[in-house]
Amino acid sequence: MKFALILLFVGLALAEPTVYFKEEFDDSWEDRWVQSLHKSDLGKFKLSAGKFYGDAEKDKGIQTSQDARFYGLSAKFDKFSNEGKTLVIQFTVKHEQDIDCGGGYVKLFPSDLDQSDMHGESPYNIMFGPDICGPGTKKVHVIFAYKGKNLLVKKDIRCKDDVYSHLYTLIVRPDNTYEVKIDNEKVESGELEADWDFLAPKKIPDPDAKKPDDWDEREQIDDPEDSKPEDWDKPEHIPDPEAKKPDDWDDEMDGEWEPPMIDNPDYKGEWKPKKIDNPDYKGKWIHPEIDNPEYEADSNLYSFSDFGVIGFDLWQVKSGTIFDNILITDDVAYAEEVGNETWGKTKDPEKKMKEGQDEEERLKREEEEKKQKEEEDASKDDEDDDEEAAEADDDEEEEPEPIGKDEL
Ligand SMILES: *[C@@H]1O[C@H](CO)[C@@H](O)[C@H](O)[C@H]1NC(C)=O
Repeated sequence: MKFALILLFVGLALAEPTVYFKEEFDDSWEDRWVQSLHKSDLGKFKLSAGKFYGDAEKDKGIQTSQDARFYGLSAKFDKFSNEGKTLVIQFTVKHEQDIDCGGGYVKLFPSDLDQSDMHGESPYNIMFGPDICGPGTKKVHVIFAYKGKNLLVKKDIRCKDDVYSHLYTLIVRPDNTYEVKIDNEKVESGELEADWDFLAPKKIPDPDAKKPDDWDEREQIDDPEDSKPEDWDKPEHIPDPEAKKPDDWDDEMDGEWEPPMIDNPDYKGEWKPKKIDNPDYKGKWIHPEIDNPEYEADSNLYSFSDFGVIGFDLWQVKSGTIFDNILITDDVAYAEEVGNETWGKTKDPEKKMKEGQDEEERLKREEEEKKQKEEEDASKDDEDDDEEAAEADDDEEEEPEPIGKDEL
């Protein structure tokens, strides 16, 4: 009984997520977010659920509203360290403008960030989220700052490039593993050490090892037995044997007649000896490796001592991206649940509304095209009537034209 109670308490304690930051954007959002003043022409975010949505209120997020602008906006939260804990960063992105080029990522900064001066070079801990530019760049960034460098993930993680809301989740665990989820499904995972260049390589080629001079790496060699046949060499071009001196050729006037040259059918090109397997072939020489003296293990790659600000530092060509449902927590299941409750509930009605709008557009376009065609036909009929009238006047003098009237 006692044991069961303890288990219950432990269970409860484990089930309690720590929420470092949560933002679902409402009318008071500007009380919590700070616009950077680093440049005077930074783009403005506005509160909007966009042109189509699942829920007009709940799906309100902040939307980039000016084309070809940099954006700089951030919000503070109580400083924390993820040491010994799982870190989950999650948010939704909706490129409803059908984005051509623009960022859709967040940055997590240390607490000492000067928010009103936040800019592209402001040091951050983690950058995470989609980035699209043309057909060539459609990726999810996962960047960790480590010893003064921003390290890019070495794997290619593809992002979504449609117009709908998508849920992006980064999980970083204290065992130095990570996971990236899109729409609550794992798209990538692995070890921090393997997928970023945090550390110098464990092994390096032995600087003292050298390929022996007599190491034969040629898989095949020329056959020493093979020799060029005696009758091989023939000229590439020969005088055309069919050509005849024209009858009216005047040697004195035209010079000595020479037949034109043609390709020699017997020409065989450059002779090359046959290839045979090299009896001395030793295989490719493999540079032996040694432990890298520069390698220093680090079991705290995942850990940052100070998170305190989340921000959007973006460039967008065509604006219209909506960010929403931001969550920073230590609890993977909780984040998944929040994802289900927000994006999970939005996605289907949002799609339905968009498809409804598209269908409406299509019908409207068809209607307009029909109307335009009718107007064109009507004005053509008028012209035809005029011509008929004109021709009727002419009829007295002239034969009426039997065909071609309609073509005029
Ligand atoms: C989230 O939704 C998916 C799909 O409906 C479900 O399988 C999963 O268990 C849900 N997760 C949580 C934590 O509620």
